[in-house]
Amino acid sequence: MKKIRKAIIPAAGLGTRFLPETKAMPKEMLPVVDKPAIQLIVEEAMKSGITDILIIIGKGKRAIEDHFDSNTELELNLERKGKDKMLEAVKKTNGLNIYFKRQEHPKGLGDAVLTAKSFVGNDPFVIMLGDDLMQAETPLTKQLIDSYEKTNSSTLAVMRVPHEDTSKYGVINPAKKVSDGLYDVTSFVEKPNPEDAPSDLAIIGRYLLTPDIFEVLEHTKPGKGNEVQLTDAIDTLNKSGKVYAHEFKGSRYDTGNKFGWLQTNIEFGLQHPEVADQLKSYIKDLANKLD
Ligand code: UTP
Repeated sequence: MKKIRKAIIPAAGLGTRFLPETKAMPKEMLPVVDKPAIQLIVEEAMKSGITDILIIIGKGKRAIEDHFDSNTELELNLERKGKDKMLEAVKKTNGLNIYFKRQEHPKGLGDAVLTAKSFVGNDPFVIMLGDDLMQAETPLTKQLIDSYEKTNSSTLAVMRVPHEDTSKYGVINPAKKVSDGLYDVTSFVEKPNPEDAPSDLAIIGRYLLTPDIFEVLEHTKPGKGNEVQLTDAIDTLNKSGKVYAHEFKGSRYDTGNKFGWLQTNIEFGLQHPEVADQLKSYIKDLANKLD
């Protein structure tokens, strides 16, 4: 079986939930303590054995390209000053092959994925959304790869969400559990109203797909919000082949909306050796004042 080495990171969306911040700054570049969110995603890919990444960008997303470009002047400066730790931090993703592709217009996640067709070729690949962070002992991308190695089929990640939130996600209609945390799926529905939602298992930002998804995407018409929906294409793929859903049990942080981003920074700050103690006592003091 071919090892999975390729990932695509769609990062061409408009980020309207975070305006005005996202007018000129990509939401994927918003800091999580001291790293842009998208770097944490690239690090998850590295830890999962991915070697080649295509980042899909659009208008106003230049900062993402610059971030992953090597900065020789900065590196030499840090080296000369003996700032080894900082040097290590800026060179962290240097060994990876990172490519960029433009999505002409933000016509939806399905359309963004379709632009990666020639990069992917005939290999199974993963999709990692540029604003969705996952924390788990085994990275979620690696969990999907391990699952694929057993089933040889497309598998996407799902997570239980509060029932009233189903209209924010793609939701699965699970047929049966085939093993611990792995579901056979009857259908995939994009953003159902809670009264129509077939379950509380929502699709989150990691997918492992076989390349036959591209043929489906080429024929997928715009759906909800007049955007080409990846969920609709996956639902079609599930009719001719098989798409499993893998339930994620770790922590997920959605940095693409204001509250989610604040929450992410507090939680990651509490884990960061440089600021954890200071932040903890600040939160305690603040909580006392709020009482
Ligand atoms: P989102 O729906 O979360 O992103 O898409 P958005 O459209 O930028 O956000 P809002 O709703 O306007 O606030 C999930 C991921 O897919 C990418 C986004 O960049 C994000 O990482 N995406 C979305 C694209 O690359 N192209 C698109 O046309 C749409």
